[in-house]
Amino acid sequence: MTAPVKVYVSGDASALSVGADDVAQAMETMATQRNIELVVIRNGTRGMLWLEPLVEVETPAGRVAYGPVSLEDVPSLFDANFLRGGEHSLAHGLTEKIPYFARQERLTFERCGVIDPLDLDDYEACGGLTGLRKARSMAPSEIVDIVTQSGLRGRGGAGFPTGIKWKTAAEQKSEKKYICCNADEGDSGTFADRMLMEGDPYSLIEGMVIAALAVGADEGYIYLRSEYPHAAKVLRAAIKKWEAAGHSGQGADGAPAFKLHLRMGAGAYICGEESSMLESLEGKRGQVRAKPPIPAISGLFEKPTIINNVLSLATVPVILEKGADHYKHFGMGRSRGTQPFQLAGDIARGGLVEKAFGVTLDELVNDFGGGALSGKPIRAVQTGGPLGAYLPVSEFDVQMDYEALAERGAMLGHGGVVVFNNTVDMAQQARFAMEFCEIESCGKCTPCRTVQSIIGFSPRLRSRIICKPPFCMNA
Ligand SMILES: Cc1cc2nc3c(=O)[nH]c(=O)nc-3n(C[C@H](O)[C@H](O)[C@H](O)COP(=O)(O)O)c2cc1C
Repeated sequence: MTAPVKVYVSGDASALSVGADDVAQAMETMATQRNIELVVIRNGTRGMLWLEPLVEVETPAGRVAYGPVSLEDVPSLFDANFLRGGEHSLAHGLTEKIPYFARQERLTFERCGVIDPLDLDDYEACGGLTGLRKARSMAPSEIVDIVTQSGLRGRGGAGFPTGIKWKTAAEQKSEKKYICCNADEGDSGTFADRMLMEGDPYSLIEGMVIAALAVGADEGYIYLRSEYPHAAKVLRAAIKKWEAAGHSGQGADGAPAFKLHLRMGAGAYICGEESSMLESLEGKRGQVRAKPPIPAISGLFEKPTIINNVLSLATVPVILEKGADHYKHFGMGRSRGTQPFQLAGDIARGGLVEKAFGVTLDELVNDFGGGALSGKPIRAVQTGGPLGAYLPVSEFDVQMDYEALAERGAMLGHGGVVVFNNTVDMAQQARFAMEFCEIESCGKCTPCRTVQSIIGFSPRLRSRIICKPPFCMNA
């Protein structure tokens, strides 16, 4: 008896929004009608969002891609014998050879869109748990050293060296420490955190357990943006399965079991700022705390706390698995490793591109992205979210790394790249960004207060705060 053919249809929110559920259902119905055995697996997305709903068929040569598939395309796909990789106008050949995908350097997102997100065996077969096993055989200080040597910097926006943060927390003498994952993902045009949590949740959980081993923590929280119900569902199921499999249990070195909780965010941009996030996690209003003390010394419930972005934590397993040198080998200058860039706005091929630091903005927008979807000339892109900058086409030669962008007066933020065509009034966009900042600001810091008084915005809704490095003590 031959094994049923495996068909992958993404269950990522981006794919669901364009009808992936209906396509998956239609595939199953048509297979039954035609007496064909097939298994539909709901994977995460590969990040080629313009091809969603993407349908991949497992063949002896590899997975063959078809997309974007609509309900009406399903009968013709069966007629074209797509279950054997047959020719069709929607066929793109082997997924891994599609130039957009083949040219990427996937480390953090290596498994995303490949595995069944909640299948722990699948996760392990694709390299999952290797990093944690290595970490369990090491002294906590060795784990911190590897993360430091890798050059990993926080992907939440500030780019602070992760190893230094971990060392500070590890040095604190306390019977209680916490690991908090910042999954508030509030920058405009960003979706990499969500994509990772929906497509490969165990890599985040594994990263948090490794962080706990490194600093001596036994409890953690994922603070998830309330607008991400699909990610919440996947994370809840993943935490349950992970704990049931005993992967949070005591290590050989007697490390304590790690208890992980999921908490939904309070729906404010400011709650992504780490000290507001701590307030919110403690059940209070999301307001910034004064620093010092930094959270690594006194954070959640006044205990030493590691706060890292989803991508920072999810990158730790691959660093442990492949070594600090392997990771450090990617990138340029002080920006080591890879960055998941998110292409959005008026762009032909929107999606996620994981590439070593140093790729130019032009390569991202034009080579990967294919220019504007509307076909109109591009006027500017926004990088770094509402607190970032608008870069005109004359700046497209900039290499995407923390320092190179700062030299041009821009910032990387969370890696979002939002494209605007030449019909967009950039002055209006700038005003919109400032209005957003004003609305989300409580005006506690001088720059926010000053900006508001200069540009004459009303002091309404000053219950929140926006902070921009280098001015703000909380950035
Ligand atoms: C207004 C504001 C909003 C922020 N929003 C987020 C966010 O949504 N997600 C995030 O990871 N970091 C956000 N940050 C950065 C965090 O304060 C913090 O630097 C980060 O979570 C630390 O993790 P990392 O070192 O892994 O980047 C924000 C900062 C500011 C000032």
